[in-house]
Amino acid sequence: MIRLGVMGFGGRISSMINHVFREVEPDIRVVGIVDPDEEGARSRLAECDKADAVFYTSTDEMVRQAKPDALAVGTRCNLHTPYAVEAARYDLPLFLEKPVATSMEQATALEDAFAASRCQAVVSFPLRVSPLCVLTRQYIDEGAVGPAEHILGVNYVPYGTCYFDGHYRNFAVTQGLFLQKATHDFDYMSYLMGSTIIRVAATAQYGRVFGAPGARGKGMPAGLVCSQCDDALVCLESPENRKRNGSGGTDQDHPCVFGVDCGSPEAGMNEDASNALLQFANGAAGVYTQVFYSRRDSGTRGSTISGYHGTLSFDWYTNELKRVRHHAPFSDTIRAGGGMSHFGGDHELSQDFIGLIRGRCKSRTPIETGIQSVYTCLAAKESAETGRFVDVRQVGSTPV
Ligand SMILES: NC(=O)c1ccc[n+]([C@@H]2O[C@H](COP(=O)([O-])OP(=O)(O)OC[C@H]3O[C@@H](n4cnc5c(N)ncnc54)[C@H](O)[C@@H]3O)[C@@H](O)[C@H]2O)c1
Repeated sequence: MIRLGVMGFGGRISSMINHVFREVEPDIRVVGIVDPDEEGARSRLAECDKADAVFYTSTDEMVRQAKPDALAVGTRCNLHTPYAVEAARYDLPLFLEKPVATSMEQATALEDAFAASRCQAVVSFPLRVSPLCVLTRQYIDEGAVGPAEHILGVNYVPYGTCYFDGHYRNFAVTQGLFLQKATHDFDYMSYLMGSTIIRVAATAQYGRVFGAPGARGKGMPAGLVCSQCDDALVCLESPENRKRNGSGGTDQDHPCVFGVDCGSPEAGMNEDASNALLQFANGAAGVYTQVFYSRRDSGTRGSTISGYHGTLSFDWYTNELKRVRHHAPFSDTIRAGGGMSHFGGDHELSQDFIGLIRGRCKSRTPIETGIQSVYTCLAAKESAETGRFVDVRQVGSTPV
């Protein structure tokens, strides 16, 4: 049996444990939890964990008393670093949600903590380990494009309203959508290009669609929810109209996506869309775009990688990889099986985590990948704020 201790037993980590970890290792039990919302956390426990799971007030108490074989951090973004720094004190395998940090102070503290630790982490980056991404990397390694010179990453998020009508709207916790979303994409793009990103120029659009003044031309009052809104009949974001239009997002009563409490560009808010130009350490270049007001069939996430000899492009939504040979009259399309959580990436992360606990394999998303991606996201955020190119701090370096 694997005994798991969890800091922050919320929606994402409970679903990973109950459905994905347990699929790989049926004999895993949640034996300890640190979470101030005991009632909420208990309601997410699987039947088999209800008897064994004990709630603790600190990681230290949990590790000493519950004696877990491994730890998992599933809090919201701003608490990932504090808990991971604590976890680094123990030699236990760690599953760590992304982004692994939300500020430079946190990221460097995390790097320091792990430099002095033997704790091995699986950072929750399902895209990097998804079979389609791994196959693309294999093609690149086999010379499908020659040296990879360029990557275009796109992310048209069809469920982007969750960043404005749910807990993700809280900028103080997320620090924006480079850290929240692009952390995955910068990570897998670096993996595909076989190189880290060293310089970024970025732009972001705020408050043009969501938040004040919003697409509706006026900022809606703070605290407004659809059930109390006079506009619910005509508003495209009311539960009724989302259902009628099949436009996605929660169909429960929710905070207004046009509310002034989404934040402001000055005080900080999630962006409607953002873009980054990327320079890689090996001389390759890249472009990345993420758009959060896309809906329905506009959902697209994937990359086009090119070099002198060919072009590869894949999209997780269509689950296809296209290979074009530039100098031979052949092109082909490979189709992957569908229907898997995070395009199969969650299952792969789970294999890695269980394998790490069992001493059978190494993490393919170690702590360095999470920290390097945060450094890239922080550079993008700073660039969007200042309008300047920003050098990306590199893991293991001490910038002057
Ligand atoms: N890797 C992925 O693809 C992926 C997907 C979805 C979410 N996430 C990440 O998962 C994280 C959690 O998101 P969620 O939707 O599950 O949130 P959630 O609110 O459902 O879960 C957070 C949990 O942390 C608990 N918590 C609050 N304060 C705490 C504290 N001081 N100590 C311990 N626990 C505390 C809450 O009570 C809650 O149970 C986010 O950071 C998000 O970025 C990652």
